[in-house]
Amino acid sequence: MSGTEAVMQAVRLARYHTGRSHLVRFCGAYHGWWDGVQPGVGNPRPVRETYTLREMDERTLRVLRHRRDVACVLVNPLQALHPNAVPPTDAALVDSSRRAGFDRAAYAAWLRDLREVTADRGIALVFDEVFVGFRLAHGGAQEYFGVRADLVTYGKGLGGGLPVGVLCGRRELMRRFKHDRPADLCFARGTFNSHPYVMGAMHEFLDRLATPEMKAVYAGLDETWRARAAALNRRLREEELGLGVANLSSIFTVLYERPGRYNWMLQFYLRKHGLALSWVGSGRLIFSLNLDDATFDEIARRFVAAAAEMLADGWWWQDASLTDKAIRRGILHELLTRRLRG
Ligand SMILES: Cc1ncc(COP(=O)(O)O)c(C=O)c1O
Repeated sequence: MSGTEAVMQAVRLARYHTGRSHLVRFCGAYHGWWDGVQPGVGNPRPVRETYTLREMDERTLRVLRHRRDVACVLVNPLQALHPNAVPPTDAALVDSSRRAGFDRAAYAAWLRDLREVTADRGIALVFDEVFVGFRLAHGGAQEYFGVRADLVTYGKGLGGGLPVGVLCGRRELMRRFKHDRPADLCFARGTFNSHPYVMGAMHEFLDRLATPEMKAVYAGLDETWRARAAALNRRLREEELGLGVANLSSIFTVLYERPGRYNWMLQFYLRKHGLALSWVGSGRLIFSLNLDDATFDEIARRFVAAAAEMLADGWWWQDASLTDKAIRRGILHELLTRRLRG
């Protein structure tokens, strides 16, 4: 199955075992393309039985303490980099107001609070690690932040390049039947479940992960990537490019520090300099864990060269009237004019 289906299955099991209807997801977090986790743009259907709440917010804990209809809370640990904000797609980069930054201790404290409240209230805490699984630590986000979830989803790299979605978790929640009510089942079956190719690739991946060589890759990972992000930021500052990066381990997000309407053009300059982003758009760099220093240096050199060329070409011109607010207003005006003119 896919990552989307793994999340669907997590929610389905949480509902089945708790007998409650609603899921909680957090602002800006992606959990696949399914209706129930995608209120807003991109979903043509009304969303029912979903609460979208703010992350790292006491009011969310209050809601969880008082409501009786919440079956599960979905956490996408990637959001630690930009809580309550959408990912840096090109659409989000039409101006430069987007901010991001990662505070490991603060996010870990938030997850601990969430863990305490959900445990108290019998709500299933679901970590959706489809994106970050095996990237932050050998034991994933759970190990990295020191918090145990009830259910965890994985995908992407776990399939070694093949399409995969996996759900695992506490035995009681994973069960799809009830001992005392044999006809009360939580059905889940599909053509692509346990596909032999994918199972084989996953087996290889997990075996490899258990080797001392792979475990060594995780040692000092945070420090390595923090130092690399700092080095790239230094170079960007020295060249006065008006760009910076924030990072969650090996995931970097690009910050545009001066108002600019054409930030999304950066991906084409990067491509010209031989860097094809793994993320669609100009806002994210996702690195392989085994990237060596020399390769990172070369990527940083090209990144700086690409940005310098874009600046020299005039796409980031500055004048007093150019503010993020003015850019947003201008775009809105253009959209409305276009619509009214048909
Ligand atoms: C956190 C998260 N959950 C779920 C999904 C959906 O996975 P898939 O694309 O395999 O359906 C993604 C995909 O990017 C994701 O990042």
